[in-house]
Amino acid sequence: MIDLDSARAILRQNDQDGHTVPTRGLYPFQWNWDSAITALGWLTFDEARAWEEAHTMFRGQWDNGMLPHILFHGHSESYFPGPEVWGAKAAIPSSSISQPPVWATAINLMLQRSGDAARARAEARALLPGLLGYHEWWYRDRDRDNNGLVQSFHPWESGMDNSPAWDGPLARVPEVKWKYRRRDLGHVDKEERPGRLEYNRYLHLIELQKKNDFDPELISAASPYRVVDIGTVSILHRATRDLIELCRIFGQDAAIPGLESELARTRAAVSACWSGRDRCFLNRDIIADAPLAEVTTGTLLPLFGLLADDEQAGAMAALVEEWLGASNFGLSSTHPASARYEPQRYWRGPVWLHINWMIAEGLRAYGYDDLAERIRSNTRKCIETAGGYYEYFNSETGEGCGGGNFSWTAAVALYWLGR
Ligand code: GLC
Repeated sequence: MIDLDSARAILRQNDQDGHTVPTRGLYPFQWNWDSAITALGWLTFDEARAWEEAHTMFRGQWDNGMLPHILFHGHSESYFPGPEVWGAKAAIPSSSISQPPVWATAINLMLQRSGDAARARAEARALLPGLLGYHEWWYRDRDRDNNGLVQSFHPWESGMDNSPAWDGPLARVPEVKWKYRRRDLGHVDKEERPGRLEYNRYLHLIELQKKNDFDPELISAASPYRVVDIGTVSILHRATRDLIELCRIFGQDAAIPGLESELARTRAAVSACWSGRDRCFLNRDIIADAPLAEVTTGTLLPLFGLLADDEQAGAMAALVEEWLGASNFGLSSTHPASARYEPQRYWRGPVWLHINWMIAEGLRAYGYDDLAERIRSNTRKCIETAGGYYEYFNSETGEGCGGGNFSWTAAVALYWLGR
Protein backbone atom coordinates (compact mmCIF):
# COMPACT_ATOMS: atom_id res chain seq x y z
CA MET A 1 0.00 0.00 0.00
CA ILE A 2 1.13 3.50 -0.76
CA ASP A 3 0.85 5.92 2.11
CA LEU A 4 -0.42 9.20 0.67
CA ASP A 5 -0.40 10.92 4.06
CA SER A 6 3.37 10.60 4.08
CA ALA A 7 3.51 11.93 0.53
CA ARG A 8 1.58 15.03 1.60
CA ALA A 9 3.80 15.38 4.66
CA ILE A 10 6.88 15.35 2.39
CA LEU A 11 5.60 18.26 0.34
CA ARG A 12 4.80 20.20 3.53
CA GLN A 13 8.27 19.39 4.88
CA ASN A 14 9.97 20.54 1.68
CA ASP A 15 7.87 23.69 1.41
CA GLN A 16 9.98 26.78 1.72
CA ASP A 17 8.45 30.22 1.28
CA GLY A 18 6.38 29.52 -1.82
CA HIS A 19 8.61 26.97 -3.48
CA THR A 20 9.23 23.28 -2.80
CA VAL A 21 12.81 22.09 -2.56
CA PRO A 22 13.32 18.68 -4.24
CA THR A 23 14.72 17.38 -0.95
CA ARG A 24 16.38 19.03 2.03
CA GLY A 25 20.19 19.06 2.03
CA LEU A 26 21.05 17.68 -1.40
CA TYR A 27 18.88 20.15 -3.39
CA PRO A 28 18.08 23.20 -1.24
CA PHE A 29 16.62 25.49 -3.96
CA GLN A 30 13.85 25.54 -6.59
CA TRP A 31 14.39 23.31 -9.63
CA ASN A 32 12.38 24.04 -12.76
CA TRP A 33 10.87 20.71 -13.84
CA ASP A 34 10.75 19.33 -10.30
CA SER A 35 8.63 22.31 -9.40
CA ALA A 36 6.16 21.73 -12.26
CA ILE A 37 5.69 18.06 -11.32
CA THR A 38 5.46 18.95 -7.65
CA ALA A 39 2.73 21.51 -8.33
CA LEU A 40 0.60 18.63 -9.68
CA GLY A 41 1.05 16.91 -6.32
CA TRP A 42 0.07 20.03 -4.38
CA LEU A 43 -3.02 20.34 -6.52
CA THR A 44 -4.48 17.18 -4.98
CA PHE A 45 -4.70 18.68 -1.48
CA ASP A 46 -3.82 22.39 -1.48
CA GLU A 47 -4.69 24.19 -4.71
CA ALA A 48 -3.58 27.60 -3.52
CA ARG A 49 -0.15 26.18 -2.79
CA ALA A 50 0.01 24.55 -6.24
CA TRP A 51 -0.52 27.88 -7.98
CA GLU A 52 1.90 29.63 -5.70
CA GLU A 53 4.58 27.13 -6.77
CA ALA A 54 4.15 28.26 -10.37
CA HIS A 55 4.13 31.97 -9.57
CA THR A 56 7.32 31.66 -7.52
CA MET A 57 9.02 29.90 -10.44
CA PHE A 58 7.97 32.48 -13.01
CA ARG A 59 9.21 35.32 -10.80
CA GLY A 60 12.67 34.01 -11.66
CA GLN A 61 12.13 34.17 -15.43
CA TRP A 62 14.82 36.07 -17.32
CA ASP A 63 13.93 39.10 -19.44
CA ASN A 64 14.57 37.06 -22.59
CA GLY A 65 11.96 34.47 -21.50
CA MET A 66 14.37 31.79 -20.28
CA LEU A 67 13.15 29.95 -17.19
CA PRO A 68 16.27 28.83 -15.29
CA HIS A 69 16.84 25.28 -14.19
CA ILE A 70 17.62 26.44 -10.63
CA LEU A 71 16.43 29.51 -8.74
CA PHE A 72 18.68 30.22 -5.77
CA HIS A 73 16.11 31.82 -3.50
CA GLY A 74 18.44 31.94 -0.53
CA HIS A 75 21.91 30.98 0.54
CA SER A 76 22.97 27.42 1.21
CA GLU A 77 26.34 25.83 1.83
CA SER A 78 25.02 22.40 0.99
CA TYR A 79 24.91 22.77 -2.82
CA PHE A 80 27.59 23.29 -5.45
CA PRO A 81 27.80 24.99 -8.00
CA GLY A 82 26.06 28.00 -6.49
CA PRO A 83 25.12 31.34 -8.07
CA GLU A 84 28.66 32.74 -7.96
CA VAL A 85 29.85 29.98 -10.30
CA TRP A 86 26.98 30.51 -12.75
CA GLY A 87 27.56 34.28 -12.70
CA ALA A 88 24.11 35.18 -14.07
CA LYS A 89 22.74 38.64 -13.42
CA ALA A 90 19.03 38.04 -12.89
CA ALA A 91 16.41 39.38 -10.49
CA ILE A 92 16.54 36.11 -8.57
CA PRO A 93 20.02 34.51 -8.61
CA SER A 94 19.85 31.53 -10.93
CA SER A 95 21.64 29.08 -13.18
CA SER A 96 22.00 30.07 -16.84
CA ILE A 97 20.45 27.01 -18.49
CA SER A 98 16.90 25.70 -18.50
CA GLN A 99 15.30 22.27 -18.05
CA PRO A 100 12.64 20.24 -19.89
CA PRO A 101 9.68 22.62 -20.17
CA VAL A 102 6.85 20.79 -18.41
CA TRP A 103 5.14 23.96 -17.17
CA ALA A 104 2.49 24.58 -19.84
CA THR A 105 1.40 20.94 -19.57
CA ALA A 106 1.29 21.17 -15.79
CA ILE A 107 -0.72 24.42 -15.84
CA ASN A 108 -3.20 23.02 -18.34
CA LEU A 109 -3.65 19.89 -16.19
CA MET A 110 -4.07 22.03 -13.10
CA LEU A 111 -6.74 24.03 -14.86
CA GLN A 112 -8.60 20.88 -15.88
CA ARG A 113 -8.28 19.11 -12.54
CA SER A 114 -8.98 22.05 -10.27
CA GLY A 115 -11.95 21.87 -7.94
CA ASP A 116 -12.20 25.67 -7.99
CA ALA A 117 -12.74 26.65 -11.62
CA ALA A 118 -12.94 30.41 -11.12
CA ARG A 119 -9.70 30.55 -9.21
CA ALA A 120 -7.92 28.21 -11.63
CA ARG A 121 -8.94 30.34 -14.60
CA ALA A 122 -7.63 33.50 -12.96
CA GLU A 123 -4.35 31.83 -12.01
CA ALA A 124 -3.74 30.20 -15.37
CA ARG A 125 -4.56 33.41 -17.20
CA ALA A 126 -2.05 35.29 -15.06
CA LEU A 127 0.64 32.71 -15.88
CA LEU A 128 0.01 32.71 -19.63
CA PRO A 129 2.36 35.60 -20.61
CA GLY A 130 5.24 33.92 -18.78
CA LEU A 131 4.52 30.61 -20.50
CA LEU A 132 4.39 32.27 -23.90
CA GLY A 133 7.69 34.04 -23.25
CA TYR A 134 9.27 30.78 -22.17
CA HIS A 135 8.24 28.87 -25.30
CA GLU A 136 9.27 31.77 -27.52
CA TRP A 137 12.68 31.63 -25.89
CA TRP A 138 13.09 27.92 -26.71
CA TYR A 139 12.11 28.36 -30.34
CA ARG A 140 14.03 31.60 -30.84
CA ASP A 141 17.28 30.96 -28.93
CA ARG A 142 17.58 27.20 -29.02
CA ASP A 143 16.31 26.17 -32.41
CA ARG A 144 19.80 26.88 -33.71
CA ASP A 145 19.39 25.16 -37.07
CA ASN A 146 15.92 26.50 -37.63
CA ASN A 147 14.43 23.07 -38.09
CA GLY A 148 12.11 22.77 -35.10
CA LEU A 149 14.55 20.67 -33.05
CA VAL A 150 15.70 22.72 -30.07
CA GLN A 151 19.23 22.15 -28.79
CA SER A 152 20.65 21.66 -25.29
CA PHE A 153 23.82 23.45 -24.24
CA HIS A 154 24.50 21.40 -21.12
CA PRO A 155 23.75 17.80 -20.07
CA TRP A 156 21.95 19.20 -17.02
CA GLU A 157 19.54 20.98 -19.32
CA SER A 158 18.10 17.59 -20.29
CA GLY A 159 17.27 16.91 -16.63
CA MET A 160 18.94 13.52 -17.23
CA ASP A 161 22.27 14.81 -16.08
CA ASN A 162 24.68 11.92 -16.55
CA SER A 163 22.70 9.81 -19.00
CA PRO A 164 25.07 7.65 -21.08
CA ALA A 165 23.45 9.32 -24.07
CA TRP A 166 25.65 12.37 -23.38
CA ASP A 167 28.93 10.49 -22.80
CA GLY A 168 30.20 10.95 -26.36
CA PRO A 169 29.57 14.69 -26.73
CA LEU A 170 30.67 15.36 -23.13
CA ALA A 171 34.01 13.62 -23.75
CA ARG A 172 34.91 16.49 -26.11
CA VAL A 173 34.52 19.06 -23.36
CA PRO A 174 37.73 20.16 -21.61
CA GLU A 175 37.96 19.76 -17.83
CA VAL A 176 38.30 22.74 -15.50
CA LYS A 177 41.59 22.73 -13.65
CA TRP A 178 40.58 24.62 -10.52
CA LYS A 179 39.86 22.95 -7.20
CA TYR A 180 36.36 22.71 -5.79
CA ARG A 181 34.46 20.68 -3.26
CA ARG A 182 31.40 18.76 -4.40
CA ARG A 183 28.63 18.88 -1.83
CA ASP A 184 26.45 16.12 -3.31
CA LEU A 185 28.87 13.44 -2.07
CA GLY A 186 28.25 14.56 1.49
CA HIS A 187 24.59 13.53 1.08
CA VAL A 188 24.66 10.52 -1.25
CA ASP A 189 26.92 7.49 -1.84
CA LYS A 190 29.38 8.19 -4.66
CA GLU A 191 28.33 4.96 -6.41
CA GLU A 192 24.97 6.61 -7.06
CA ARG A 193 26.30 9.94 -8.39
CA PRO A 194 28.20 11.12 -11.48
CA GLY A 195 32.01 10.88 -11.45
CA ARG A 196 34.68 13.58 -10.96
CA LEU A 197 35.71 13.75 -14.60
CA GLU A 198 32.16 14.47 -15.68
CA TYR A 199 31.84 17.16 -13.02
CA ASN A 200 34.99 18.93 -14.30
CA ARG A 201 33.38 19.06 -17.73
CA TYR A 202 30.00 20.22 -16.46
CA LEU A 203 31.81 23.14 -14.83
CA HIS A 204 33.66 23.98 -18.03
CA LEU A 205 30.33 24.34 -19.84
CA ILE A 206 29.01 26.60 -17.10
CA GLU A 207 32.07 28.85 -17.44
CA LEU A 208 31.68 28.88 -21.20
CA GLN A 209 28.18 30.31 -20.88
CA LYS A 210 29.42 33.06 -18.58
CA LYS A 211 32.43 33.92 -20.80
CA ASN A 212 30.10 34.27 -23.77
CA ASP A 213 27.76 36.57 -21.93
CA PHE A 214 24.91 34.01 -22.05
CA ASP A 215 24.50 34.86 -25.73
CA PRO A 216 23.12 31.86 -27.66
CA GLU A 217 24.95 32.75 -30.89
CA LEU A 218 28.31 33.12 -29.20
CA ILE A 219 27.78 29.98 -27.14
CA SER A 220 26.76 27.94 -30.18
CA ALA A 221 29.84 29.07 -32.03
CA ALA A 222 32.20 28.35 -29.12
CA SER A 223 30.74 25.30 -27.44
CA PRO A 224 32.05 21.76 -27.94
CA TYR A 225 28.71 20.50 -26.59
CA ARG A 226 25.42 20.89 -28.45
CA VAL A 227 22.86 18.13 -28.68
CA VAL A 228 19.29 17.59 -29.76
CA ASP A 229 17.80 15.92 -26.72
CA ILE A 230 14.74 14.06 -27.92
CA GLY A 231 13.32 14.14 -24.40
CA THR A 232 13.32 17.92 -24.25
CA VAL A 233 12.06 18.21 -27.83
CA SER A 234 9.15 15.92 -26.95
CA ILE A 235 8.25 17.61 -23.68
CA LEU A 236 8.37 20.99 -25.40
CA HIS A 237 6.17 19.71 -28.19
CA ARG A 238 3.53 18.42 -25.84
CA ALA A 239 3.71 21.60 -23.75
CA THR A 240 3.26 23.76 -26.84
CA ARG A 241 0.07 21.86 -27.65
CA ASP A 242 -1.09 22.60 -24.13
CA LEU A 243 -0.08 26.22 -24.50
CA ILE A 244 -2.17 26.52 -27.67
CA GLU A 245 -5.12 25.14 -25.73
CA LEU A 246 -4.56 27.75 -23.02
CA CYS A 247 -4.35 30.49 -25.66
CA ARG A 248 -7.71 29.34 -27.05
CA ILE A 249 -9.33 29.29 -23.63
CA PHE A 250 -8.09 32.79 -22.81
CA GLY A 251 -8.64 34.39 -26.20
CA GLN A 252 -4.95 34.83 -27.05
CA ASP A 253 -5.57 33.84 -30.65
CA ALA A 254 -2.80 35.97 -32.09
CA ALA A 255 -0.15 33.69 -30.57
CA ILE A 256 -1.61 30.48 -32.01
CA PRO A 257 -0.44 30.45 -35.66
CA GLY A 258 3.20 30.95 -34.65
CA LEU A 259 3.03 28.11 -32.14
CA GLU A 260 1.29 25.87 -34.63
CA SER A 261 3.98 26.40 -37.18
CA GLU A 262 6.60 25.44 -34.58
CA LEU A 263 4.69 22.23 -33.95
CA ALA A 264 4.60 21.46 -37.65
CA ARG A 265 8.32 22.09 -38.07
CA THR A 266 9.21 19.84 -35.15
CA ARG A 267 6.91 17.12 -36.38
CA ALA A 268 8.51 17.18 -39.83
CA ALA A 269 12.08 17.21 -38.51
CA VAL A 270 11.73 14.58 -35.80
CA SER A 271 11.01 11.80 -38.25
CA ALA A 272 14.67 12.00 -39.32
CA CYS A 273 15.58 10.96 -35.74
CA TRP A 274 13.56 7.75 -35.95
CA SER A 275 15.61 4.55 -35.88
CA GLY A 276 13.61 1.54 -37.03
CA ARG A 277 16.38 -0.76 -35.83
CA ASP A 278 16.29 0.69 -32.30
CA ARG A 279 12.52 1.20 -32.34
CA CYS A 280 12.84 4.70 -30.88
CA PHE A 281 13.87 8.26 -31.76
CA LEU A 282 17.60 8.85 -31.24
CA ASN A 283 19.23 11.96 -29.78
CA ARG A 284 21.59 13.85 -32.04
CA ASP A 285 25.10 15.19 -31.59
CA ILE A 286 25.13 18.51 -33.45
CA ILE A 287 28.89 19.03 -33.40
CA ALA A 288 29.60 15.56 -34.81
CA ASP A 289 26.48 15.78 -36.98
CA ALA A 290 25.52 12.23 -36.04
CA PRO A 291 22.88 10.36 -34.06
CA LEU A 292 23.67 9.24 -30.51
CA ALA A 293 23.27 5.49 -30.23
CA GLU A 294 22.20 5.09 -26.60
CA VAL A 295 18.62 3.95 -25.97
CA THR A 296 17.26 5.60 -22.82
CA THR A 297 13.86 6.51 -21.42
CA GLY A 298 14.45 9.95 -22.96
CA THR A 299 14.32 8.35 -26.39
CA LEU A 300 10.82 7.03 -25.56
CA LEU A 301 9.44 10.46 -24.72
CA PRO A 302 8.15 11.15 -28.25
CA LEU A 303 5.24 9.02 -27.03
CA PHE A 304 4.51 11.70 -24.42
CA GLY A 305 5.18 14.39 -27.03
CA LEU A 306 2.67 12.76 -29.40
CA LEU A 307 5.39 12.86 -32.04
CA ALA A 308 5.26 9.21 -33.14
CA ASP A 309 3.01 7.99 -35.93
CA ASP A 310 0.90 4.91 -35.23
CA GLU A 311 3.41 2.48 -36.63
CA GLN A 312 6.27 4.02 -34.65
CA ALA A 313 4.13 4.02 -31.50
CA GLY A 314 3.43 0.31 -32.04
CA ALA A 315 7.15 -0.44 -32.38
CA MET A 316 7.89 1.63 -29.27
CA ALA A 317 5.17 -0.16 -27.30
CA ALA A 318 6.77 -3.52 -28.21
CA LEU A 319 10.14 -2.16 -27.10
CA VAL A 320 8.65 -0.95 -23.78
CA GLU A 321 7.16 -4.35 -23.19
CA GLU A 322 10.56 -6.04 -23.60
CA TRP A 323 12.24 -3.29 -21.58
CA LEU A 324 9.93 -3.93 -18.64
CA GLY A 325 10.87 -7.58 -18.73
CA ALA A 326 14.62 -6.88 -18.87
CA SER A 327 15.05 -5.58 -15.31
CA ASN A 328 13.21 -6.37 -12.08
CA PHE A 329 11.96 -2.81 -11.68
CA GLY A 330 11.03 -0.58 -14.56
CA LEU A 331 11.40 1.43 -16.55
CA SER A 332 15.16 1.58 -16.13
CA SER A 333 16.44 4.95 -17.36
CA THR A 334 18.99 3.23 -19.62
CA HIS A 335 18.08 0.07 -21.48
CA PRO A 336 19.45 -2.94 -19.52
CA ALA A 337 21.09 -4.31 -22.68
CA SER A 338 23.37 -1.28 -22.87
CA ALA A 339 27.04 -1.76 -21.97
CA ARG A 340 26.72 1.46 -19.97
CA TYR A 341 23.77 0.30 -17.88
CA GLU A 342 24.30 0.72 -14.10
CA PRO A 343 21.15 -0.01 -12.10
CA GLN A 344 22.08 2.20 -9.13
CA ARG A 345 23.78 5.21 -10.75
CA TYR A 346 21.58 8.24 -11.26
CA TRP A 347 20.45 8.43 -14.91
CA ARG A 348 22.41 5.41 -16.07
CA GLY A 349 19.87 2.77 -15.02
CA PRO A 350 17.64 3.62 -12.05
CA VAL A 351 13.91 4.20 -12.34
CA TRP A 352 12.61 7.79 -12.14
CA LEU A 353 8.92 7.94 -11.41
CA HIS A 354 7.95 11.14 -13.20
CA ILE A 355 9.43 9.70 -16.39
CA ASN A 356 7.30 6.59 -15.91
CA TRP A 357 4.28 8.86 -15.66
CA MET A 358 5.18 10.59 -18.93
CA ILE A 359 5.77 7.37 -20.84
CA ALA A 360 2.57 5.81 -19.50
CA GLU A 361 0.62 8.97 -20.44
CA GLY A 362 2.06 8.71 -23.93
CA LEU A 363 1.19 5.04 -24.29
CA ARG A 364 -2.33 5.73 -23.11
CA ALA A 365 -2.73 8.45 -25.72
CA TYR A 366 -1.81 5.93 -28.42
CA GLY A 367 -4.28 3.38 -27.05
CA TYR A 368 -1.87 1.11 -25.14
CA ASP A 369 -3.83 1.27 -21.91
CA ASP A 370 -2.75 -2.12 -20.56
CA LEU A 371 0.90 -1.35 -21.02
CA ALA A 372 0.43 2.06 -19.41
CA GLU A 373 -1.20 0.33 -16.47
CA ARG A 374 1.72 -2.08 -16.19
CA ILE A 375 4.08 0.89 -15.91
CA ARG A 376 1.85 2.35 -13.24
CA SER A 377 1.91 -0.82 -11.16
CA ASN A 378 5.69 -1.06 -11.61
CA THR A 379 5.94 2.49 -10.34
CA ARG A 380 3.89 1.63 -7.28
CA LYS A 381 6.09 -1.43 -6.69
CA CYS A 382 9.20 0.79 -6.49
CA ILE A 383 7.75 2.86 -3.65
CA GLU A 384 6.43 -0.20 -1.85
CA THR A 385 9.68 -2.13 -2.09
CA ALA A 386 11.87 0.79 -1.05
CA GLY A 387 9.39 1.78 1.64
CA GLY A 388 9.60 5.47 0.82
CA TYR A 389 9.60 8.34 -1.66
CA TYR A 390 13.20 8.32 -2.87
CA GLU A 391 14.76 10.40 -5.62
CA TYR A 392 15.11 7.31 -7.84
CA PHE A 393 15.10 3.52 -7.50
CA ASN A 394 17.61 0.77 -8.24
CA SER A 395 16.22 -0.99 -11.31
CA GLU A 396 17.33 -4.44 -10.16
CA THR A 397 16.65 -4.38 -6.41
CA GLY A 398 14.04 -1.64 -6.12
CA GLU A 399 16.09 -0.05 -3.38
CA GLY A 400 15.61 3.70 -2.87
CA CYS A 401 18.59 5.74 -4.11
CA GLY A 402 19.79 9.34 -4.00
CA GLY A 403 17.89 11.71 -1.74
CA GLY A 404 15.02 10.56 0.49
CA ASN A 405 11.66 12.30 1.08
CA PHE A 406 11.74 13.56 -2.48
CA SER A 407 9.15 16.04 -3.70
CA TRP A 408 8.50 14.89 -7.25
CA THR A 409 8.31 11.25 -6.21
CA ALA A 410 5.72 12.12 -3.56
CA ALA A 411 3.90 14.32 -6.08
CA VAL A 412 3.72 11.55 -8.70
CA ALA A 413 2.22 9.26 -6.06
CA LEU A 414 -0.40 11.83 -5.12
CA TYR A 415 -1.27 12.91 -8.61
CA TRP A 416 -1.01 9.65 -10.52
CA LEU A 417 -0.78 6.59 -8.29
CA GLY A 418 -3.33 7.81 -5.78
CA ARG A 419 -6.10 8.29 -8.29
C1 GLC B 1 19.24 16.28 -10.58
C2 GLC B 1 18.39 15.66 -11.70
C3 GLC B 1 17.47 16.72 -12.27
C4 GLC B 1 16.63 17.31 -11.15
C5 GLC B 1 17.50 17.79 -9.98
C6 GLC B 1 16.67 18.14 -8.76
O1 GLC B 1 20.07 17.28 -11.06
O2 GLC B 1 19.19 15.11 -12.68
O3 GLC B 1 16.65 16.17 -13.25
O4 GLC B 1 15.88 18.36 -11.64
O5 GLC B 1 18.40 16.79 -9.59
O6 GLC B 1 15.88 17.06 -8.38
